[in-house]
Formats: sequence, C-alpha cells, structure tokens
Amino acid sequence: MDFLPFVEQARTCRRFYEDKPLSQDDLTWLVRCARATPSARNAQVVRFVLITGKTCAQVFPNTHWAMALKDWKGPVEGERPTAFLGLVLPKDAPSIALIDLGIVAQTVQLAAHSRGYGSCIIKSFDKEAVSTLLSLDPSQSLELVVGLGVALEKRGICPIDSSGSLNYFRDAEGTHWVPKRSVEELICGRFS
Ligand SMILES: Cc1cc2nc3c(=O)[nH]c(=O)nc-3n(C[C@H](O)[C@H](O)[C@H](O)COP(=O)(O)O)c2cc1C
Repeated sequence: MDFLPFVEQARTCRRFYEDKPLSQDDLTWLVRCARATPSARNAQVVRFVLITGKTCAQVFPNTHWAMALKDWKGPVEGERPTAFLGLVLPKDAPSIALIDLGIVAQTVQLAAHSRGYGSCIIKSFDKEAVSTLLSLDPSQSLELVVGLGVALEKRGICPIDSSGSLNYFRDAEGTHWVPKRSVEELICGRFS
C-alpha cells in the first residue's frame, strides 16, 4: 500500500459513531503501536492513560474542539469520542521529550486510521480538572489527550486558496477540508 494516500486521508477527526465505542483492548493496541516508536536516548518517557466508558464522558466537557469552526460547539451527543488516550510526561522531563510526544501522538493517529478510527490530538483542555479526574501523580504532567472513536466525518486535504487562509472548513456536504501548503512551499532547499 502506498503511504501517501494513507497519510493524506488520516486527517484529524472530530465526529464519531458514538454507538460503536472503542474498548480498553482497542486502546491497548494503540499503545502497542506507540511502544514501537523512536525515542530520544530510547528513554521512553511517555506514559498513557486509557480512558473509556463513563470516565470518557467525564473528560469530554473539559476538552475544546475546532476553534477555527466558529459556529460549531464541538461534537454533539451521538457523535462524541468514545475514548481518550492521555499522554503523560514526567514534570521534570527534558525538552527533547516533547519530540517523543509528537512522534507518539502521530503514530497513534496513523495507527487509529489504519483501523478506521478517527482521532483528534487535543492540547486545549482543562489540564487541572482532567489530571484530578484521572488521579495523576503530582510528578506527572498530562500533555495531550487524544480523542478517539470510529470515524464518522469525511475529511480531506486541499490546496490553500487565494485568500491564503490556513483555516480548516466544512463544505455544504459536511466534509472537513484542511488546507495544506504546497510541496514547493515546504521545500526550502535542494542540494545535489
Ligand atoms: C499539538 C497539537 C495540538 C492540537 N490541539 C487541538 C485542540 O486542542 N483541539 C482541536 O480540536 N484540535 C487540535 N489539534 C488538531 C489540529 O487542529 C489539526 O491537526 C489541524 O487543524 C490540521 O488538521 P489535520 O490534523 O487534519 O491535518 C491539535 C493538533 C496538534 C498537532
């Protein structure tokens, strides 16, 4: 399978089939995928909190979705995530651990996509409230939560239009489009 169409389709997803919930086993499989990622000094400092069921419903109101969609208040009942994966770092982790964190988050997103799950990496959440809910140790810092579920919304990438806006948007059919810079714009040097 060619990786390019796979990764192009693996867009952030914010609407899910809430009647097809992910299980703790599904989340464990995602952690198995994340376990196999590169890590600075192979220190493997990222930890995972696997959240389903009623705790997922309790985490949800503390998360903020799609700030760029001004007239959308986040997924409605019936389309909410059915799981969260909390990504945790030690509070005293070196800054390079943030690179590990990013690799882990994207690996989770791609792994999820390979099974038809959608995911949304979320930094905008009430860290204190969710950390308390999850009984995190004071030495741990909840850096990201990844909202997950069986993907409902159609998503794709598109070129940036003449306005130059990078804001994602929905078309009349509800498909979520994400403008991406051209390959030419991204390449800032070539040497041969
Ligand atoms: C570090 C990081 C933090 C993010 N935080 C949020 C967030 O708090 N809420 C949200 O709805 N999306 C969040 N996103 C998703 C981005 O909005 C999304 O990646 C961006 O719009 C590009 O869309 P794409 O992932 O489909 O390429 C985050 C993504 C990353 C990488």
